[in-house]
Amino acid sequence: MSQISTLRTGLIFGTDTGNTEEMGGKISAVLATYGCEVSMHNIADAVPEIFESYEFLILGIPTWDFGGIQSEWEDFEQQLQTLDLKGTTVALYGLGDQFGYADYFVDAMGWLNERILKTGARVIGAWSTEGYDFEASEAANKDKTLFCGLALDEDQQFDLSDDRINAWVEQLVVELEEARAA
Ligand SMILES: Cc1cc2nc3c(=O)[nH]c(=O)nc-3n(C[C@H](O)[C@H](O)[C@H](O)COP(=O)(O)O)c2cc1C
Repeated sequence: MSQISTLRTGLIFGTDTGNTEEMGGKISAVLATYGCEVSMHNIADAVPEIFESYEFLILGIPTWDFGGIQSEWEDFEQQLQTLDLKGTTVALYGLGDQFGYADYFVDAMGWLNERILKTGARVIGAWSTEGYDFEASEAANKDKTLFCGLALDEDQQFDLSDDRINAWVEQLVVELEEARAA
């Protein structure tokens, strides 16, 4: 059993049509195979204390309306600014449609990353852009080689999501253990 099994772990998602919740369930199921029990919360019902009660947090957000922020995450923006997540490790995942919205692919994940970094949290789980076809993304670095978290596309590449989730969770486990050993 890995060290990750001892971490208090929460997953907070926002969703309009259910995809981000469904992917959160899959991520939690894979983490369970490492002995890590995940509590899931909808951001619509979240309060800052929920964020602050976990050692490891996974945050999921879809992008809507040309780079827009999912509405309940957007409603939580002021409270995000009050969070103190020093000592918390955070990993992000974002849902989007790379062909339908190629200039705004998973933009909202970049928005969330920017705000989470300001809370003092350590963000892990950067993910390669290889295998995606998009023009621009607020969630990607300057040279478009890495997203700040896992990008999932249930509209155009739903058949790749399970493999991506398996590989990403494996990467998270390694990154968490490296950090603990350091
Ligand atoms: C009207 C509309 C606007 C969208 N805008 C974007 C966008 O700007 N960028 C993007 O990557 N995906 C966009 N999408 C795709 C959604 O993010 C995608 O369908 C996602 O899986 C929805 O997640 P949810 O079911 O958790 O709400 C849009 C979808 C629709 C229908």
